[in-house]
Amino acid sequence: MRWIDTLEAAAAEKLPEPLHRYFRQGSAGGISVGEATAAWNAYRFRPHILTDVSTVDLRTTILGTPVDVPVLVAPSTMQRQADPDGEAAMSAGVAAAGSILGVSSNAGTTFAEISAAGAPWWLQIYVVKNRDITLHMLDAAVAAGARAVVLTADTPVVGRKEDDGPTVWEVVQPGHLLANLDENDYPPEDLAKADDLGPDVIGWLHERTGLPVVVKGVLRGDDARRCADAGAAGVIVSNHGGRQLDGAISTARALPEVAEALAGTGTEVYVDGGIRRGEHVLAALALGARAVFVGRPALWALTVGGSAGVTRLITDLSDELAHALRLVGCPRLSELSPDLLARR
Ligand code: FNR
Repeated sequence: MRWIDTLEAAAAEKLPEPLHRYFRQGSAGGISVGEATAAWNAYRFRPHILTDVSTVDLRTTILGTPVDVPVLVAPSTMQRQADPDGEAAMSAGVAAAGSILGVSSNAGTTFAEISAAGAPWWLQIYVVKNRDITLHMLDAAVAAGARAVVLTADTPVVGRKEDDGPTVWEVVQPGHLLANLDENDYPPEDLAKADDLGPDVIGWLHERTGLPVVVKGVLRGDDARRCADAGAAGVIVSNHGGRQLDGAISTARALPEVAEALAGTGTEVYVDGGIRRGEHVLAALALGARAVFVGRPALWALTVGGSAGVTRLITDLSDELAHALRLVGCPRLSELSPDLLARR
């Protein structure tokens, strides 16, 4: 059995049940979370033969930052519940693999500690009703060295979770959330997510921070173009790991439309959701993604193996990708194309 496939069960042994459930669950009826990996499995390759595959190079650049591998870690909450050092341990693991880390707005570790742990990192922002709160967090992230802002755009309201038993919010240890925000300074309604955002928020975020803005949660070509036209440097094709609109299209199916819409614009495309194997990464890159993000597997790896576990996860997936690149007969990332996939 692959080590990656053992992680969730091993993490379940270590985590309180509400936390394991929170990491694993999708929203509502669990349709989108349930079909994410199956949608990647549904692709079929058209491999080349008789090509020189003796050298495979996984290095690339992501918004100008060199990385050793095109497998990045998605922003997620509750990392200090998985490991006492939380996002700092995640960062150290990502740094050792030569990758990039997405850091959640709700991180339980300060931006300064995350930066000190070594990985290049992007701040994921939820714009909230009181924009002063958002501005304060953006300024803190810039000061600590964030390299990009990821605007999560699929969460005007939080997806409904159907919990049996106590929720994670009832078991989370005090001080393990929102390390970069003094929530006591504000009334709860100020912290609610903004539900009136338009594309102009992209320029607003860029002007305030001077950083490239990546929009997360894009599932349609027309929206991707609206983001690019408004100045987005990148988009993440994502349905939030099936945690927002249940029944939202799988990212494996949405990616081709988004990649086609952005072809030639210079806006980078990334994808997340259900990516668990090197072959899934290969399909994503062939369809036009510059890199993929993994969410839950990184949380399981952090729980089970700390920072070394995170490094191993990224390295194992990257080794599988290198192997698949050889077998598909196309060892250079820059030469991958949708032609390597059979039409569905
Ligand atoms: C998330 N995700 C997420 N996304 C985001 O923009 N901000 C956040 O704070 C969180 N928090 C979060 C917590 C947990 C427990 C999970 C599982 C996910 C979504 C995440 O960034 C990513 O889109 C998905 O996890 C990708 O799908 P996979 O790889 O988990 O299938």
